[in-house]
Amino acid sequence: MSIEQLALMNIDTKDRGEDWAQYRRSIGQVIRTCIERYGVNNGNLLLLGVGNGNDIPVELLESIFNSITIVDLDEVALDRFLSRVSDKKKFNKAIIDLSGINNQVKSAKELINQATSIQPVIDLSKLNKKYDLVVNCCFSTQLLTSYFYGTNEFQGGNVSNELGEKLHGLSNRIHYKLFSELKKKLVSNGVVLHMTDTLEIKQNKITGEISPATIPVVNIIKGDWRNIGLLTGHLSQFFEDGLSIIGSALPPEAHDMFAVRTYFSLLWEFLHDEQEDRNYVVFAYVLQNQ
Ligand SMILES: C[S@@+](CC[C@H](N)C(=O)[O-])C[C@H]1O[C@@H](n2cnc3c(N)ncnc32)[C@H](O)[C@@H]1O
Repeated sequence: MSIEQLALMNIDTKDRGEDWAQYRRSIGQVIRTCIERYGVNNGNLLLLGVGNGNDIPVELLESIFNSITIVDLDEVALDRFLSRVSDKKKFNKAIIDLSGINNQVKSAKELINQATSIQPVIDLSKLNKKYDLVVNCCFSTQLLTSYFYGTNEFQGGNVSNELGEKLHGLSNRIHYKLFSELKKKLVSNGVVLHMTDTLEIKQNKITGEISPATIPVVNIIKGDWRNIGLLTGHLSQFFEDGLSIIGSALPPEAHDMFAVRTYFSLLWEFLHDEQEDRNYVVFAYVLQNQ
């Protein structure tokens, strides 16, 4: 995956700050709940896959945490985010490949050929603190689907065929490695808030085309996003039916490594313009060190 390609994706979304205000608020609410319910301390916060940070409730986080470390592969996007913070001294920036395959796999073709054999190498040595809270800012699905950016393959990123299943397996291997490394960086009761865009609800307003998860989701929520909580009971079915986005599954080992306290469902109103309506259902898993 070239960094230029990630940079293009972040340029695409750099001005969505206002549109994502409601999503940012709901993330803030989830983080507050984690702090209150699971006794997270206000020392060091680690934000992974921050990009432009349009989904980060930065004022709230600055008011809570003593130090905030931000991670991404796209340094220019991180600098856009940093230009909006109040107290720059609180922030540290680290450029890290969270997939552990970026140096080894450069194109969609290579990814397809090596999906079952590649061994992710994840190096978090630039992170030199113990963290109270680690937040995944929805980077997980980008680790693999970004290789297909601009192609027709994996529109919506669904795991619906043999290749999808291979990529799903690779994503599990990456996340298992990543969680193992993150666990070493957590304080003893530290929490990983693993937020991941899981279902894509998309309609092309010109062609009428819709993404595969759209109808099942709309049926369950009865056409009303206030019922988004109803989706949690159907999550495993979405995974079984191949309707979830590649990279969105929690790897099974997470249950042995952490106490999976709960999970929340959030609506990310991603894009609404004259061509398309696109929303994501994001699940936020609370994984506590034990
Ligand atoms: C969905 S975006 C997050 C949205 C973002 N918070 C924003 O408002 O721009 C996911 C982020 O993951 C980053 N990312 C993708 N692959 C990565 C990798 N292998 N290592 C580190 N970061 C990666 C992208 O650069 C992007 O900024």
